[in-house]
Order: sequence, then C-alpha cells, then structure tokens
Amino acid sequence: SIDDCLIVELNKIPSDKGNISVAESNINVPFDIKRIYYTYDIPSEAERGGHAHKEQHELVIAASGSFNVVIDDGKRKKTFFLNNPNKGLWLKPGIWRELNNFSSGGVVLVMNSGLYLESDYIRDYNKFKSK
Ligand code: TYD
Repeated sequence: SIDDCLIVELNKIPSDKGNISVAESNINVPFDIKRIYYTYDIPSEAERGGHAHKEQHELVIAASGSFNVVIDDGKRKKTFFLNNPNKGLWLKPGIWRELNNFSSGGVVLVMNSGLYLESDYIRDYNKFKSK
C-alpha cells in the first residue's frame, strides 16, 4: 500500500566545498541497484510517470530543484514534495506514480532494482485499478 512507500534518508557529507550524498545497494538503498536514470529539462507544466511497476523497486530523488510525486495504491493517494537531494522516496512494486509541479532546473534521479523492461510496466490506469 502507499503506507509502505517510505522516505529514505541518505547521508550528507558536508564541506565548505559542497555536500556529498551516497547511495549504496542494500546499505541505505533497500534493494540491489541495477539501473540509474535521470530526467531533466522538464517543462514546469509536464506530468511524468503515469505507470506502476510489477516487480521493480525505485528510489526517487530530487537531485536538484523540486517536484511532487503522487502515489496511488488503487485505494488511496498521497503526495510527497521532494526538494532535498539527501532524501529519496522508495516506491514499492504495484504503486501508481505521477510526477508533476516541477521547479525550473528540477532533476529527477531514479535508482531502479532492474534493467529497463517494458513488460514490468503497467501503463493503463484502468488496468492498474482492476488488479
Ligand atoms: P517513461 O517511462 O514514459 O518516462 P516517465 O515515467 O519518466 O514519464 O519513459 C519515456 C521513454 O523512455 C519511453 O519511451 C521508455 C524510455 N525509457 C528507456 O528506454 N529506458 C529507461 O530506463 C527508461 C526509464 C525509459
């Protein structure tokens, strides 16, 4: 359910030259990372996401700027405002997500537990709802 989608705190190593946050498989990221992708140059009015994964886990991080992630388990919805590069939202399988309200310069950094596999996606909301 949406209650299983937790904010994961990454560490932050500060210095007067800037900060470093580190994501490590099965240490602070709660799965094996197989794939990383990032989305950028996003128009503020864009809506991204619009799918659920069948098996894959994701950790979504606002590497820069901010945006909303609306999660939906078919029964309830919850909105997370992500604006902190040292916090990630852990999306479990079976959760519909939509991303919107992008700030200028917003960068969505996603770690995924699997390689890109279109058959792992549910892209039809009605199909998702009827599961
Ligand atoms: P899509 O899943 O629609 O992006 P988002 O959920 O961020 O709105 O993906 C957009 C396109 O990119 C789609 O044609 C699939 C392709 N794609 C890959 O080829 N590999 C990947 O790892 C990802 C995430 C997307």
